[in-house]
Amino acid sequence: MADIRRIGTTTDILGEGPVWCPRERALYWVDIRGRMLRRYVERGEQVTSWPMPEEIGSLALCEQGGVLLALKSGIAVFDSMTAGFRKLADLPEHGKTLRCNDGKCDRQGRFWVGTMEMSEAGATGKLYRLDDRGCTIMRRDIRIPNTLCWSPDGTTIYWADSPQRQILAFPYDPATGTPGEPRIFAEITAPAVPDGATVDAEGYLWSAQYNGSRVVRYAPDGSVDRVITLPATQITSCAFGGTNLSTLFITSATQNLSADVLATQPLAGALFVVDVGVKGVREPRYAF
Ligand code: BGC
Ligand code: CA
Repeated sequence: MADIRRIGTTTDILGEGPVWCPRERALYWVDIRGRMLRRYVERGEQVTSWPMPEEIGSLALCEQGGVLLALKSGIAVFDSMTAGFRKLADLPEHGKTLRCNDGKCDRQGRFWVGTMEMSEAGATGKLYRLDDRGCTIMRRDIRIPNTLCWSPDGTTIYWADSPQRQILAFPYDPATGTPGEPRIFAEITAPAVPDGATVDAEGYLWSAQYNGSRVVRYAPDGSVDRVITLPATQITSCAFGGTNLSTLFITSATQNLSADVLATQPLAGALFVVDVGVKGVREPRYAF
């Protein structure tokens, strides 16, 4: 049984999108529906929360400073010193009933983000790629875009449309930022669905499974290597951080749980840490 610890005292409606910042030795994450950007600084164990003007789906750190935010209405850069926002990009063909969900940079620093209906119903979401060529629609007809992460060498992209209960693996051309035809990497058994994920230095995938109370480590061939069970059902995402990049930070949610169910999982919505004895890969910053 892994030793699971809670960080801070925050309770997220929909905690998501953890990213470790080695420069600040801090973990950034979001509460999508609680409209919060949060940061945990390892030294002093302090958590800071910044209210957001809209739902915030995910984030990335920027090469040129600041934090890229995938807000409901588009992409912005946030300055944590001044709490100021700067619009970076609009999302083409984006509707008012949609919001951003999982997003991450590829190994070249292009930002990818998916959109979905706020209601979670209807497959009108899209997957976008943002770089110096602008914001491009890469895929359509998505319901809940999740998982998004790259193999250490950047030539495989993992992604899921959660209700399909499959994690797909696409070959990926790092030079052009173009995916090829996907194959099924892993199938997830109900009631769990694949949510956020990350890849470690050995090329294994760590998948947070919503409605599954767990994070599953998959070998590059898709076989299950390890399961970490958590004291909350809605496990949403994970990221490596800490001094040696060997601490796994795990986000969770309280959304859609009745008062009765919440009483049985008082840690739902918490940020967890587990020392997993495996090193992660540094997340690239947004490079443009
Ligand atoms: C979405 C949630 C959804 C969950 C499980 C998350 O990425 O933000 O709205 O309930 O995935 O599919
Ligand atoms: Ca997610």
